Amino acid sequence: MRAKHAQAKKSRKRAEMDGGPMIERTLVLLKPDAVQRGLMGEIISRFEKVGLKIIGAKLVWIDREQSKKHYNAHVGKKFYKVLEDYIVQGPVLALVLEGVQAVENVRKMAGPTEPLKAAPGTIRGDFAHISMAHADTTNKSIANLIHASGTVDEAQKEIALWFKDNELHSYKTAHEEHVF
Ligand code: CDP
Ligand code: MG
Repeated sequence: MRAKHAQAKKSRKRAEMDGGPMIERTLVLLKPDAVQRGLMGEIISRFEKVGLKIIGAKLVWIDREQSKKHYNAHVGKKFYKVLEDYIVQGPVLALVLEGVQAVENVRKMAGPTEPLKAAPGTIRGDFAHISMAHADTTNKSIANLIHASGTVDEAQKEIALWFKDNELHSYKTAHEEHVF
């Protein structure tokens, strides 16, 4: 517990160097199912409404090599093959969001990995309902609409993998006066 706390403190310290106290950046991917189901606007709108700032955005159709880089921690796991098939099946919308403890906030809004467990109000809970058990019977990945970085360290690595520095923008939002 203490180690976890120290790690969080260290991560926070690093994040503070980027954009001021507790301002973090996080990588979001709206996965091929979100794009193909026409849910991009609906999901982006949720981030805008809570006052998170979109500082990078692009539609990218990744290949298997990029999938292995992004999901490096999962390569070799039982579900990796179906995950790769899922993520390369069409373009994804890659976003970088910035805000107060953005990593934790965006994970909260996404909800847990398994839509069955994701509460109404979360992105995965509102737009999907499938379970791990069901996915196992179909030999498909869990189509859960969104990827969001899990930690500040992960976010920094993932943002560097998906975006060049000149694709990230610094500007003021109207929200900022009220939210930050
Ligand atoms: O995306 P998240 O961080 O919530 O979950 P993860 O454990 O990092 O897994 C990455 C992605 O792999 C998930 O979002 C699912 O789309 C997929 N996955 C799967 O299809 N079956 C599993 N048993 C675990 C993950
Ligand atoms: Mg993950």
